[in-house]
Amino acid sequence: LVNSVYPDDIKINNLKCSFLPPGSVVPTSAAEASRAMAGDTSLSENYAFAGMYHVFDQHVDEAVPRVRFANDDRHRLACCSLDGSISLCQLVPAPPTVLRVLRGHTRGVSDFAWSLSNDILVSTSLDATMRIWASEDGRCIREIPDPDGAELLCCTFQPVNNNLTVVGNAKHNVHVMNISTGKKVKGGSSKLTGRVLALSFDAPGRLLWAGDDRGSVFSFLFDMATGKLTKAKRLVVHEGSPVTSISARSWVSREARDPSLLINACLNKLLLYRVVDNEGTLQLKRSFPIEQSSHPVRSIFCPLMSFRQGACVVTGSEDMCVHFFDVERAAKAAVNKLQGHSAPVLDVSFNCDESLLASSDASGMVIVWRREQK
Ligand SMILES: *[C@@H]1O[C@H](CO)[C@@H](O)[C@H](O)[C@H]1NC(C)=O
Ligand SMILES: *[C@@H]1O[C@H](CO)[C@@H](O)[C@H](O)[C@H]1NC(C)=O
Repeated sequence: LVNSVYPDDIKINNLKCSFLPPGSVVPTSAAEASRAMAGDTSLSENYAFAGMYHVFDQHVDEAVPRVRFANDDRHRLACCSLDGSISLCQLVPAPPTVLRVLRGHTRGVSDFAWSLSNDILVSTSLDATMRIWASEDGRCIREIPDPDGAELLCCTFQPVNNNLTVVGNAKHNVHVMNISTGKKVKGGSSKLTGRVLALSFDAPGRLLWAGDDRGSVFSFLFDMATGKLTKAKRLVVHEGSPVTSISARSWVSREARDPSLLINACLNKLLLYRVVDNEGTLQLKRSFPIEQSSHPVRSIFCPLMSFRQGACVVTGSEDMCVHFFDVERAAKAAVNKLQGHSAPVLDVSFNCDESLLASSDASGMVIVWRREQK
């Protein structure tokens, strides 16, 4: 962990995206130096968009539940679809293209993740398998059946040891999988109260949160040496409301240590929790109005919060808009709203320097938005 925010800020400002691990941010309200570098602009100015950069329609007709930029990469994007495929897209040089389509899953692809170095993708599918893909040539390296033979609904890499992946399934289980062996890790399985829809590690990889379709979020302690999971805390967000997205915000700064969790739970609002201890106990900080009553809508923290006065989150919504909220502003938290989709927006992803934002929807359309650069 880096003790001062300033050296990191300078590097990020020079767009050396690779300095920070993905998911890391430097939350600080006191970083005057970085604020000055950002030109002391308001969040709304910072999140002004010049419009659509590109629209991808290769998955149209089937929902795209997940869209993700590659780590430390401004121009590589992947989308997974309920049509059973994953597409890898390149945004520059123009015109943007679909580089390749990964086929093999026999049912919809519910989720996927990039490895830290982007050489590998893991995907989970309703066909009850996970697959490991080489991003370089699109080859399927391995197909791993779910240990329970259940539909797989979500996945995430262990952020520190990318040989381990966690998956969540429709039989209420999370499993830590060793992707070198294709086997589940001993002691790495645990049962939730419902279908597991969302997973998120904290950046150090010591805490894992999992959310289910009965409204609960569980925290687990992750043993780095063995891959074992120990159930720690349970929060009932809202009995019976599916938890469709969990995102952990991490920090590299000692000055502004405020770990938070962003949760979508079909409650027509986006929920922001404070993580109050090392066991992942959550305390509701505030909520933001969106439309979500049934779709698997996801949200993210903006990756470069350190330059701003405040911190920003972005979420999909069933009103077919992408919504931006300033989490620090007491009144008028809504910072921006992007209109262009014609179906509920399911997922959003920023590239590493926040010059581009991608959003995907329930009709399979993926829009890449260009942020105004000063
Ligand atoms: C991942 O597995 C490979 C080969 O199985 C091994 O060489 C490497 O050290 C492992 N990495 C970690 C972080 O355990
Ligand atoms: C995963 O498998 C590799 C290769 O067999 C092994 O070296 C490693 O210890 C395993 N990791 C865990 C956490 O079981």
